[in-house]
Amino acid sequence: MPSARRAQYLRTIGIDRWVRRTAFEEAAAVTLESSVPAGETAARQGPGDPAQETIESRWRRLRAEVLECTKCPLHQGRTQGVVGVGNQEADWMVIGEAPGAEEDRRGEPFVGRAGQLLDAMLRSIGLNRDSNVYIANILKSRPPGNRDPRPEEVAACLPYLLRQIELVRPKLLLAVGRIAAQNLLSTDAPLMRLRGRVHHFGERNTPLVVTYHPAYLLRSPADKRKAWEDLKFARSVMADLSTDGECS
Ligand code: URA
Repeated sequence: MPSARRAQYLRTIGIDRWVRRTAFEEAAAVTLESSVPAGETAARQGPGDPAQETIESRWRRLRAEVLECTKCPLHQGRTQGVVGVGNQEADWMVIGEAPGAEEDRRGEPFVGRAGQLLDAMLRSIGLNRDSNVYIANILKSRPPGNRDPRPEEVAACLPYLLRQIELVRPKLLLAVGRIAAQNLLSTDAPLMRLRGRVHHFGERNTPLVVTYHPAYLLRSPADKRKAWEDLKFARSVMADLSTDGECS
């Protein structure tokens, strides 16, 4: 079908852009099918439940695999793989792009200048990396010179992020920056078109909200006001989700 006609049809049904199924999505399909071991229930197990240990061991295995990963050439230049940080049972999960120099050195996401701003952004809506949010990146290894991740690097790393999302089971995903948003949503739409509405991610249809990357906000402080709008929006989405849960 000619692409102009396809675009027209898709616009009619409310889809702005058609993007060919990516290596990212192929990997997602495979990973989601294989990420829950046979016999394990879909519901999160509570403390004291014997299956809790299984979740802990899955986290341990994931961490070990990331630290030893050689699936893409980025492992050659990194100090260490950067897995994630925060509450592994948080309702909120923040997803950024890739470790920078400081993160690569310390082995924790968002600990440089952008991380300090991210912490302030999270605090402004009552969140704290140590207690009620889990933070991870699309890539677990630092790209040289902080260049954008390449599609093959994203495809290689994606299964780790999907496993993290599967284990945390957040109520809401907050994608910070264009790279995270475009890769999670499999779109090439610009960030400004992705902000201000609720998207959904993965088989669980987890609500996903998009905002600016804190590193961008450090360069363009005039947009902090818009980021604040995004954060308030995300907070209201979470409040609605929590209220829905109470009613049901
Ligand atoms: N930028 C990101 O996207 N992630 C980090 O961990 C640090 C900077």
